[in-house]
Amino acid sequence: MNLLTKYKSVRLASEQMVEPLHIEDYVPQAATFASPPKWNLGHTTWFFEEFILKPHSQDYKVFDESYSFLFNSYYNTVGERVTRANRGSLSRPLVSEVMGYRKHVDKAIQQFLQNSTLTKDIEDIFIVGINHEQQHQELFFTDLKYNFSVNPTFPAYNNKAFCEDEESETMAWLAIEKGIYDIGHQGDGFCYDNELGAHQVLLQDFEISNKLITNGEYLEFLKDGGYNKFEFWHDEALFWLKDKNISHPMYWLQKDGKWFQYTLAGLRLLQDKHILTHLSYYEAAAFAQWKGHRLPTEFEWEAACHKFDWGKRWEWTESAYSPYPNYKKPNGAIGEYNGKFMVNQKVLRGGSVVTPQGHSRKTYRNFFHPHIAYQFNGIRLVK
Ligand SMILES: [Fe+2]
Repeated sequence: MNLLTKYKSVRLASEQMVEPLHIEDYVPQAATFASPPKWNLGHTTWFFEEFILKPHSQDYKVFDESYSFLFNSYYNTVGERVTRANRGSLSRPLVSEVMGYRKHVDKAIQQFLQNSTLTKDIEDIFIVGINHEQQHQELFFTDLKYNFSVNPTFPAYNNKAFCEDEESETMAWLAIEKGIYDIGHQGDGFCYDNELGAHQVLLQDFEISNKLITNGEYLEFLKDGGYNKFEFWHDEALFWLKDKNISHPMYWLQKDGKWFQYTLAGLRLLQDKHILTHLSYYEAAAFAQWKGHRLPTEFEWEAACHKFDWGKRWEWTESAYSPYPNYKKPNGAIGEYNGKFMVNQKVLRGGSVVTPQGHSRKTYRNFFHPHIAYQFNGIRLVK
C-alpha cells in the first residue's frame, strides 16, 4: 500500500469511529487522562500539520493559528498548549470546524505527497503520524468509555462494538527453556524508537500461561477478601486502595448481589467465562501473588509470545519502562514521543480489542503508570 492510500484509510477510520456519536458526546472530559473525541480528531490532524506541512510544504496555508495551542499534546519543543485537564472545556472550535480542519489538512497532504519527493526523514515522520493516529483511535475508545462510564445513564456507543464478550481458552502452561533470546525490533518494517536497540537477554526456565485471566477467576480473589489482604499488595498499592477507596476492578458495579460491568454497549451482567479487563498493575500483581505466581517480564513475554494467541488485551508485565541498551532519543520534537516517559511506568505488551488491525507487533512496548486501569488490559501469569 502506498503512503497516500495508507494515510487515507487511517484518516477515514478515525471519522468512521465517531459516526455513532451525538454532538454532545464530542466534548466532555471526565478525567485528565480521558481526552474528548473532538480533541483527539484535532490533535491527530495537528500532528501532520505541525510536523509535515508547516516545515516541509512551502505553499501550505495554516488553517487556524490558534490550533497549534489547542491541539498540541505534550511537545515542549513546539510550544505552549492547553493544559491536558482542560481539553474538555473547549466547546469551541465547533465539531464542524475541527472536521473542516481535517479536510483542509487532508487536501494539503494529498497535494504534498503528489508533488514532492519525500526524503527518508520526512517519510519516517509521516509514517509516525499514521501510527500516531492509530494510537489515538485506540485512545478514542478507551477515553470515550471512561467519559461515558461516569454518566449515570450508562450510555452505549454502539451495540455492535461490545468488546468484553470474549471467552478465554482452556488453561495450559507453556514451557520456555533457559537460554539467550533476541529482544527488540530488527529489520526494515516500522517500529517506534523505544523498540530499537535490539539486544540479547538471558532467561531462566519458566512457564507462561497460554490464556488470559477471566472475570470468574478474579471474582475468586474478591470472594477470598483479596483487596483486604495486605500480604499480596505493594505498599504503594495499599495507599492507592485506601486513598481512592478501591475494592473491585474499574467498571465493575455490584447491584442486588450481582456483579455488572460497564461496557461500550452499556451496563451488562458480568460473565465469569469472559476475559478480565481494566485492571491496574497494582491489582494484576496482587492477583498474581494471591495465585502463587507472578507476571511475566517483558523479555519473557517477547520470548514466549509466538506460543500463544496475543492481541486480545494489553498485558501488564513486571518490567519497568526503561530504555534498551543503545537506545537513542531522536532529535527535535519527535524525541519527546517516547523517551521522556521512561520513568515510573510499567510496560504492557500485546495489543487489544480496540487496537487497529496490524498496528501492534511482538516488540511493541506500551506503558502506563501502575495505577492506570482505563486501557483494555489483562493478566497473563508466569510460574
Ligand atoms: Fe498524540
